[in-house]
Amino acid sequence: MDVEGVDQHAGGEGNPWAKWVRQWTGEENRHGDVLNKYLYLSGRVDMRQVEITTHHLINDGFEIGTDRDPYKNFVYTSFQELATYISHNRVAGIAKDYGNKPLARMCKIISGDEMRHHKAYSTFVKEIFALDPSEMMIAFKEMMVNKIVMPAHFLRETGQKIGSAFEDFSNSAQRIGVYKGQDYIDIMKNLISQWEIEKISKLTDEAEKARDYLMKLPERMQRLQQRIRIPEESATFTWVKPATVGS
Ligand SMILES: [Fe+2]
Repeated sequence: MDVEGVDQHAGGEGNPWAKWVRQWTGEENRHGDVLNKYLYLSGRVDMRQVEITTHHLINDGFEIGTDRDPYKNFVYTSFQELATYISHNRVAGIAKDYGNKPLARMCKIISGDEMRHHKAYSTFVKEIFALDPSEMMIAFKEMMVNKIVMPAHFLRETGQKIGSAFEDFSNSAQRIGVYKGQDYIDIMKNLISQWEIEKISKLTDEAEKARDYLMKLPERMQRLQQRIRIPEESATFTWVKPATVGS
């Protein structure tokens, strides 16, 4: 709502941006709500610890590097919605493999919503590329230089420094294949081809350089990716109750 050009007070109730943002946020909230209820009913999770972490997360805020710039925000959401599509879809697959049909179904529905969100945001960007190619190109490049970080990257548990639980969580997600470094590169490639970056012409010199940077980036990241090692030892989280025999 704070993004430039998205003035929720302009145009009264008919303001389409405000309507979109509210409905999108409402939908994301359903995702969090259903998963939270699932965790509660599973009996396997220490909900007090989960709530403490959530409370920290809200108090600590987030910094995703988009400022109030709509172009940067739409790059961020185009990327992020595809990332959430991938991760919820993978969790659905894992749940299915373990015979947990309700969880598989929930995650599958959520991943479908994320794909719809992704399509909306990537269409916005595509349209902006047609109208303002140079500025859009520079915004895309800047977001890639700063890297796309998760909104929950400050995640922590009580007594921990900001972001340390997120690091453990992210490593766990990589180890079990829910979201990996390779996915990040694949999403980047997907966006570059969807937006036909290669074909965009009539750019300013700065935007031309930004395009060259973007075109070379997936390969560069691929080389780096080969050298990254995920810590093998698994982390423990206060949220998860230890498994009891027979459960
Ligand atoms: Fe979403």
